[in-house]
Amino acid sequence: MKRVGLVGWRGMVGSVLMQRMREENDFALIEPVFFSTSNAGGAAPNVGKDAPPLQDANSIDALKAMDVIVTCQGGDYTNEVFPKLRAAGWTGYWIDAASALRMQDDAIIVLDPVNMDVIRNGLSRGVKDYVGGNCTVSLMLMALGGLFQNDLIEWATSMTYQAASGAGAQNMRELLNQMGALHGVVKSELADPASAILDIDRKVAGALRDGGVPTEHFGVPLAGSLIPWIDKDLGNGQSKEEWKGQAETNKILGRSGSPIVIDGLCVRMGAMRCHSQALTIKLKKDVPLDEVNDMLAKANGSVKVIPNEREVSMRELTPAAVTGTLSVPVGRLRKMGMGGDYLSAFTVGDQLLWGAAEPLRRMLRILLE
Ligand code: HSE
Repeated sequence: MKRVGLVGWRGMVGSVLMQRMREENDFALIEPVFFSTSNAGGAAPNVGKDAPPLQDANSIDALKAMDVIVTCQGGDYTNEVFPKLRAAGWTGYWIDAASALRMQDDAIIVLDPVNMDVIRNGLSRGVKDYVGGNCTVSLMLMALGGLFQNDLIEWATSMTYQAASGAGAQNMRELLNQMGALHGVVKSELADPASAILDIDRKVAGALRDGGVPTEHFGVPLAGSLIPWIDKDLGNGQSKEEWKGQAETNKILGRSGSPIVIDGLCVRMGAMRCHSQALTIKLKKDVPLDEVNDMLAKANGSVKVIPNEREVSMRELTPAAVTGTLSVPVGRLRKMGMGGDYLSAFTVGDQLLWGAAEPLRRMLRILLE
C-alpha cells in the first residue's frame, strides 16, 4: 500500500478533499500519514483506519518517507518545502492544490476527465509533479470538454462571476457579514411595508460607501456590489486570473505549442462557492446546435446540458442549485446574432469540488491503479 502524506487537510480545500476521500473510500486504498505545520505529535483525524500521530509538515525527513504527498497547504508552503524535498533526493509523487508549480514544464495540470491522455503520457515519461488547475479554468473545461475534444473552438471569451470562496474562507465569512450589516442598517424600514424604497436604497448606498460594512479581507464591499478584478495586476491591463484562462487551458490540453486564444474579464460577486462564467465561443465551423448539445453532454459524467429555456435555467443553472455538488451544468446555449459559428454558453460549478479538491483525489486514484 502506498504511503500517502496529507498536508493542509484542515483548511477549506483540504477539508473538502477529506470529505470526498471519505465518501469515495479512498483511505481504504492507502496508508495515510497526516502532517501538520503546528501540531506535530497530535492525533490524526479519524478516517476509519489507524494512522500515526501528526508528522511535522516542515520535516524533510518525515516527508521523504512518503510515496505520494497531497498538499492543500498553499503556495508559500510549496515554495518553501518542495525544492528542499526534491534536493534531498525524494522521487515520490507530489499532488498540489496550489498554483506555485502549475506552469513549470515538468508539472502536469490534472483534470482527468479532460486530459487523461496528457496525464498518462506524463506518468509514462516519469513526471512526478501533478497540480490542480485554476478553479475557473477547470470548471470551464469540465463544461465545454466536448467542444475542446472535437477541436471545434477557434477562440473563446470567458466573462466570470466568481464566488467568495475563491478568495478564501475568511472572505466567505466577510461576504455574509457584509450582507448582515447591510440588512442591519435598514431592518426597521424593511419591516414596514409603507417605507420608501429610495430611502432604503440611500441608507444601503451610504453603508456601502462610508465604511458601514466590514472590508478587512476584500478591501471593498462585495455584498450589494461586485469587484471587477481578481488576483494580481499584470501591468498590461490583464489580471493574473484572466491570464490563467489561456495559459492553463492550453497546458491542460497539452497544446501550449498551438494555443487556443481564450480571454475575458474575471469578476468577483456575492456567491458563496460556485463560480459561473458566460462564454462567447467562436466555433471553427457552423455546427448545428443539437450536435453541440450532444457533444457537450457526452464529454464526462459531471457535465449536464440545461435546455436554453427560462424556467429550467433559473432553477438549475445557478450557484444555489449547484453548490456542494459535483454537477457542472452548462446552458444558455444558442447561436449568437454575429452568425452561426458564434455560440453563447453559461456554466456554473462548485469551485471547491471540481474547481479544487476533486481533480487531486482522482489523480491519487490514478496513481493507485
Ligand atoms: N483564483 C480563484 C479565485 C480561486 O480567486 O476565485 C482559485 O483557483
